[in-house]
Formats: sequence, C-alpha cells, structure tokens
Amino acid sequence: MSPTHEAGWAHADGALRGPGWLEPPDDANALMPSLWSANTHKVDGDLVVGGVSLPELVANVNTPAYVLDEADLRARARAFRDAFTGYDVYYAGKAFLCTSVARWITEEGLSLDVCSDGELTVALRAGVDPARIGYHGNTKTEVELRRAVAEGVGRIVVDSFEEIARLERVAASLDRTQPVMVRVTAGVEAHTHEYIATAHEDQKFGFSITSGDALEAVRRVVAAPGLEMLGLHSHIGSQIFDTSGFEVAARRVLALHAKVGVELGVRMPELDLGGGFGIAYTTQDDPSEPAELAAAMSEIVEHECRALGIEQPHVSIEPGRAIVGPAVCTVYTVGTVKRVELDGGAVRTYVSVDGGMSDNIRTALYDADYSCTLASRHSDAPPALARVVGKHCEAGDIVVKDEFLPADVRPGDLLAVPSTGAYCRSMASNYNHALRPPVVAVRDGVATTIVRRETVDDLLATDLGASEL
Ligand code: LLP
Repeated sequence: MSPTHEAGWAHADGALRGPGWLEPPDDANALMPSLWSANTHKVDGDLVVGGVSLPELVANVNTPAYVLDEADLRARARAFRDAFTGYDVYYAGKAFLCTSVARWITEEGLSLDVCSDGELTVALRAGVDPARIGYHGNTKTEVELRRAVAEGVGRIVVDSFEEIARLERVAASLDRTQPVMVRVTAGVEAHTHEYIATAHEDQKFGFSITSGDALEAVRRVVAAPGLEMLGLHSHIGSQIFDTSGFEVAARRVLALHAKVGVELGVRMPELDLGGGFGIAYTTQDDPSEPAELAAAMSEIVEHECRALGIEQPHVSIEPGRAIVGPAVCTVYTVGTVKRVELDGGAVRTYVSVDGGMSDNIRTALYDADYSCTLASRHSDAPPALARVVGKHCEAGDIVVKDEFLPADVRPGDLLAVPSTGAYCRSMASNYNHALRPPVVAVRDGVATTIVRRETVDDLLATDLGASEL
C-alpha cells in the first residue's frame, strides 16, 4: 500500500506523468489485446465484446454493467482443464459465482470450490454434483457444516482444531463419513498484497507446518471415525506471478505429506496446491499461460515425490481469478470531467463515472492498478493522462488511478475497464445505497443478463422501518 497521499506522488516536479510503467500510447483509441477478453475489438471506436456492441448493450441495460465474454470464460476454463491433465481443477467461486457461471464451468469439466452456505446454494441450484464441490472457510458454523455434509459435498477443507471436532460431531449425528482435507500454511511469503497473501505464518488461515499443528490436525482427522483423510491443502495467496512461491510451498507440503506416511502410517491419496495465478490488469503484468504453470507445477511435484521416495498423490488446484478475471469488463458512463490544478501547476483530470468502489473495491482496498478505454466513439484528440473516479462519498473512490484517454473525453462517453471479472461483482457493496450492477453475458452477438441489476425495492426489502409507518 502506498504510504503517500494519492495526490502526492504524481506531481513531484510539477509535471503530471503517472507511474513509470504507463507509456503514453500513439493512439489513445487502441486496445492492448493482452488486457481484454479474446472476443473484444473496436468498430469505429465502439467497443464490441462477443459480437455485441457496448453502446447498443448499454441502450438496453444501462450502466454500470459487467459484460462477461462467455466464450472467453469457457476457453479459460478449458485451458486449465487441458493443461492440467491428470489434475482436478476446482474453480474458486469466490472470484465470481452465479448460477450460469457455475453451470458453464462444470460443463467445461471443472469442479467447484465454495466457502459459504450462499455459494453452496448457488452451486447446488446450478445442478453441480455435490461430490465435485470443495468447501473452504476458516470458521464454518455447525449449521454450514451440517448442510455441507448432508448434501454430500466431496471434500471439506478443515482449518482449525475446533472445526475438526465440530465436523466429527456433525458427521456422527448424520451417520456419514465425510472426506476431509487439512489446510496448512507453508510459511511462504508470496509476492502479492499483504491482505491476499495467505501462506505466511502470521495470518488466520490454516495449520502451521513448522509448529507441528498441521501434523496434529492430520492425526486428529485420522483418529475421527466419521472423517476420511484425503490430503493436505495449501493456498499461498492471490495474483501471484512468480512460480517459485508454489515451488517452495509444494516442497514443504509434500515433506509433511511424506511425514504423515512415516509417522502415522497413513497414505493420503490427494494434495491441493490452491489457486492464486496472476492475470494482466495493466501492461505491467505478464501472466503465465496455464500450460506453463502446469509444466512448472508438475515438474515440482514429480521431482519432490521422487526425492522423498513417495507415490505421487492426485493433485488438484483452485484457480478463480485466472478463469473469470479477464473474461469480464465493466462499462460506465462518464458524468463529469474536472481539471484540478495541483501544487506545482500540473493539472489532473478527474473523470467521474456512474459506479466506483461499490462495484470495484480493489483499487481502494489493495491499491490495485487498472486500465480503461473509451468505448463509444473514436477520438482524434491526443492522449491525456486521466484519473477515473467513482460517484461515492470518499476521496479514495478511484476506479483507474492513471490512464491515457483521449483529451476530449466528455460527459456521456462510455468507458470500459478490462479484467473486472474476479473479486469485483463478488465484493460489490451497496455503499451509498448504490444498486449493484448486472452481469450481462455476451456470445455470438447475443447479450443475456445472467444477474440482473438490483432495484431500490431489492435494497429496501431488508429495511423493515417502512412497515412501521
Ligand atoms: N483457493 C483458496 C483456498 C482461496 O482462498 C482462494 C482465494 C482461491 C483458491 C482462488 O484464488 P485466485 O486463483 O482467484 O487468486 N479479494 C482478493 C483476492 C482474495 C483471494 C481469496 N482467496 C482480490 O481481489 O485480489
């Protein structure tokens, strides 16, 4: 997180430049293909996704709206499935989940990871086979566990000693044997934002390998008659580009896997190495293809198993962001353009749009970088640095910190922000009583609303005061 005030770092010598990685483009209308879903291009300045022109789509559904390129999403799911042959690929539903997406990813051969009763409900409603669902969470309630066991969820990833005891009681009361994985922390500092790095020791998830808690957790699961020990689970964080983090984690987790065999005489058939594969939000990011990730991870696992002299477990992974993130863009309408003179005389252009931190909290929460493009016309104006901000009552309500847009960007223009499929709609809020935007799937020239826009009635449905009047 930048310790400096947002206005502080950009006007050091009076000239407003933006960050070093952001080059002024020759043509501010041009799309950078690596940042957009596969079926995205421009026609006379109008952004077209999945054969649907965004100005036409907006005429029907209004803005802001999340536009999901269905063929792109399916292709990314297939790419993981095909690259990771011999693995199970669980799509991490927390990135974005709705009934249609749950159905599409299972049609493409993926399994599903959920972490709440709400996500489980969506999955079951979509007809996902419970045996192909994994259930996560660092503090699952007895009610949640009971439902998951009763529905026949294929694996529950336990995260605390209390939960092991709780799950044992639940399984016994339902007379079931529940397959279980044990979430471990591998002690890896993944190079990502602190709040989304999860395998170093000082955080709430998992059992520490180094302290011995992880081995003790396995011992307790093995001793519980209603629990079946499937294997260890490690997730080191999110938006990770460097495979060395996975390598170190896999080495430590497999060492524990082998130790369980020796010390407890238990052969665990499975191993999950989690998700976290990074995607491109801006030109700074250079993500690996699934095939490269698969080759690197398989090599690590094979090498370690050989070195430890153990049979290779059946491995699974849990990508969320890398499947849904690049498949979606958010389209907004520009409401105002304000030029603000900063200390030193430089001028920052604030382009305000009709959404913001309620539909994308990631910029405010993680200091995330995004990019954007003018989506509703071609402009001959030169590129000019702009900051795209939302409509909420906070100075930190920034959507895109820095982008070169045509200098004549004006009210009524549409702007589209790519790579908003993951952790945007799923973390959206009703701050300032904003209505959460719809998700519109586009494919072969057809637009289908798969999650509708909220209405004021939706918002007020939980506000019981009106019924007293
Ligand atoms: N498996 C587990 C156990 C997880 O906790 C997560 C993400 C994933 C898989 C999927 O990770 P992915 O492949 O999507 O990176 N809200 C943050 C990200 C939080 C990630 C939480 N866990 C963000 O917007 O960057």
